[in-house]
Amino acid sequence: MTLESAQDSALPESAPLPASTGSEWWRTAVIYQVYPRSFADSDGDGIGDLKGIESRLPALAELGIDAIWLSPFFRSPQKDAGYDVSDYCDVDPLFGTLDDFDRMLATAHSLGLKVIADMVPNHTSDQHVWFQEALASPEGSPERDRYMFRDGKGPTGDIPPNNWESVFGGPMWERVTRPDGTPGQWYLHIFDTSQPDLNWENPWVREKFEDILRFWLDRGVDGFRVDVAHGMIKQAGLPDYTPPETGASMGGLVVDDSVLAPAIQDPPAPIPDPPYWGQEGVHDIWRGWHDVLAAYEGDRVLCAEAWVDPLEKVALWVRPDEMSQAFNFGYMFTDWKAPALKRIITESLKAFTEVGAPSTWVLSNHDVVRHASRLALTADSPQGAGIGPKSPGKPNEAVGLRRARAATSLMLALPGSSYIYQGEELGLPEDMELPDSARQDPTWFRTHGEKYGRDGCRVPIPWEADRPAFGFNHTGDSWLPQPADWGRFARDAQVGVPGSTLELYTLALRLRREHLLASGAVQWLKGYGRSVVAFRNGDITVIANLGKVAVELPVGQVLLASETITGGALPTDTTVWIRS
Ligand code: GLC
Ligand code: MG
Repeated sequence: MTLESAQDSALPESAPLPASTGSEWWRTAVIYQVYPRSFADSDGDGIGDLKGIESRLPALAELGIDAIWLSPFFRSPQKDAGYDVSDYCDVDPLFGTLDDFDRMLATAHSLGLKVIADMVPNHTSDQHVWFQEALASPEGSPERDRYMFRDGKGPTGDIPPNNWESVFGGPMWERVTRPDGTPGQWYLHIFDTSQPDLNWENPWVREKFEDILRFWLDRGVDGFRVDVAHGMIKQAGLPDYTPPETGASMGGLVVDDSVLAPAIQDPPAPIPDPPYWGQEGVHDIWRGWHDVLAAYEGDRVLCAEAWVDPLEKVALWVRPDEMSQAFNFGYMFTDWKAPALKRIITESLKAFTEVGAPSTWVLSNHDVVRHASRLALTADSPQGAGIGPKSPGKPNEAVGLRRARAATSLMLALPGSSYIYQGEELGLPEDMELPDSARQDPTWFRTHGEKYGRDGCRVPIPWEADRPAFGFNHTGDSWLPQPADWGRFARDAQVGVPGSTLELYTLALRLRREHLLASGAVQWLKGYGRSVVAFRNGDITVIANLGKVAVELPVGQVLLASETITGGALPTDTTVWIRS
């Protein structure tokens, strides 16, 4: 087994593959996603809040992350768990007050943690005053022009303007009633009916949002994760569109199967984007936002949630005058197979580095099945469909956790920036037994129970095994019920316990920093066979065995192992970091 200067012969490019250069903190950051409703609940009402978050920040500092990204805590009727905003410049009373936010931010900064807010510009809540004014104003008025209102088709206008289907199921159009009670125009909503799409061709909308950004930047946030950053602009004329039959739906984007289970051969040509995703006009918006952030001191970050394909297209969102980083969903959805992982890592580093942006890596978030379950599924599970009591192909928990630990150990050794979703550091699986009566995701309702949706990854996380709601709060209330046996995943059951998932994450984050892995380069190592991912990054050799047969380890000091190693052999579904 020798260190090669050329990478694995199956791969087209030559090593090493560096991360982007530049000194901004976000190029190498590990960003921890806090899902406010489910993180920590200070007032015991069953929904997490800002004071709860503040009280648990020291635990995140100990974990060794660089920044937190908070899913939306703005004023909202909570029809889509806060991704339906009715006032972008206020905190929802569920989560606290603006003062609570300021205090939480100050505490985070005092602990050396950056804070990223989640901006939701594609749509507002239907309760937002802008939409209420639009409804109350005549057709064709400037108020109506803030949103996407259109006349229906047919003699009475009772046919929707086109055939587009909502990401959450059902038609993408809703008809409104005029003040006199007669049926009126239709409005577009890519997501729920309670989330009308804004008209981003309208300069008024653009100005309003730049002001909103300044409101939070003035308060001191370190940047924004931008929701649905591939939406916003729709193809002129809003032509009909029927998604191709093949492929899985990722957040509404149809990706071809090669993204989910890439072959080592050339991937098939990507499917063109639907007329409401990834339109060229969107980039102008991000150039404007870039300039807003650039006027502030410090390195503020813009992170794109852009479900487009292939990676070269995602990279357009992070060109030097646009956003800073973009989630790497192609990586997230890569099967637990070595050739596919090597390919996507190579492609990611190439595509992002080419535009001067860091590659990013992510395995879980609040929209997908947790990776401790996803990596061991034995049946297809399209993105957004979720896993519930009646789903086929449910994973074996031990296999899932073992793979998750190996996958994270691999991810955190890669150059660039990584995301961690709350609870994955505890090894939390998806909650697959939530009763139907507890479900909250609009997907469940809009598909009439055909798709379980995303509640299974959103269950409040366990902190202390022996406290009510496992320490989530003091009353035991929980907006989604926690599985009775989640005490075994509680943080206090793992702190200081050798081999626990929490200790594995903590060690990985410390070593990643000490060995400058995030600003390093991937140099593929030859000779380990098709089921192994092996590379060198700085002074560390990373080997992940995804095959069934144990792999002989090279000489060197094992600094990290996702499972116990004995006799110099790397067992199945295990990753090691070796200094040699
Ligand atoms: C993004 C969010 C998701 C939300 C949707 C609509 O995909 O991550 O949770 O439902 O946008 O805002
Ligand atoms: Mg609360």
